[in-house]
Amino acid sequence: MALAQRVAESADLVTVALDQLLHRAEGPEARLTEAMRYAALGPGKRLRPFFAIETGKMFDLDDRAVLRAACALECIQAYSLVHDDLPCMDDDDMRRGRPTVHKAYDEATAVLVGDALQTVAFEILAHPDTHKDGNVRAEMVLRLALASGARGMCGGQMIDMLGVRDDLGAVARMQRLKTGALIAVAFELPLIMAHAGDAERHALMAFAQDIGLAYQIVDDLLDAEGDSAVLGKKAGKDADKGKANYVTLLGAQAARERLNLLAEQTKAHLDPFGPRAEFLRASVDFVLDRRN
Ligand code: IPE
Ligand code: IPE
Ligand code: MG
Ligand code: MG
Ligand code: MG
Repeated sequence: MALAQRVAESADLVTVALDQLLHRAEGPEARLTEAMRYAALGPGKRLRPFFAIETGKMFDLDDRAVLRAACALECIQAYSLVHDDLPCMDDDDMRRGRPTVHKAYDEATAVLVGDALQTVAFEILAHPDTHKDGNVRAEMVLRLALASGARGMCGGQMIDMLGVRDDLGAVARMQRLKTGALIAVAFELPLIMAHAGDAERHALMAFAQDIGLAYQIVDDLLDAEGDSAVLGKKAGKDADKGKANYVTLLGAQAARERLNLLAEQTKAHLDPFGPRAEFLRASVDFVLDRRN
């Protein structure tokens, strides 16, 4: 099966599972649950869930359990995008090819959507259906919390808001927190469920770190060179806002060269897994070639 088809199939599974997990409320609070569904069920690439599902397959984990972890990751991803688009942050009108949540609803609703999607993520992980062992669930909750909070994604967003100037090291650190941490935990959750050993864990976390970096460099290239209609979000925002990133600092050509070197290094981390990692290996090129 081609990788694109495999990504699409796992994305569909996640959308169906999220549809079931995100219950509609009765009464006036139904507006919130509708808006949560608008944010989470929209046409995202579901790449973090894909990484979790593929890792789960490598370790022969229970599909249903891994799918729940994948949904928890996607809830955090959707929440982070809703808040990232708010007028007080990146002030964007389009996301995933549709009006952002604060445009389709209003700002207060968008803040609450992010809040509630975040708590749903932990509700899903903490539920016994995710894993029969409470210690495993607690470890998963802990890791997702660390990846999402002040020492992870939110910390990276803070650095982004403050603005990083002309310092590639500082940009790399921001990237590791704002994008890298959530991508890394997509591999970590199934590793926890599998009780994976140190060698496998280290190899996969090294892969996660490099593919996370590649992912953000591609995001920066697409922001500089991509087409808003294809991206489903506005292009050219980073340069307009004077944001330092790999492309604004290095230039597109040098960023692309760095990306090509990084691609080989990233795949090499999977060598210990042999053919078991076929689809994760192919996902490196998929990330590099993506157009949205
Ligand atoms: C966008 O993430 C924000 C970044 C961290 C680069 P994605 O490009 O994965 O967005 P969706 O989830 O597919 O919409
Ligand atoms: C956002 O990064 C990363 C998040 C943690 C949401 P960007 O601001 O570059 O993401 P886009 O380009 O709006 O998707
Ligand atoms: Mg942003
Ligand atoms: Mg943004
Ligand atoms: Mg961006």
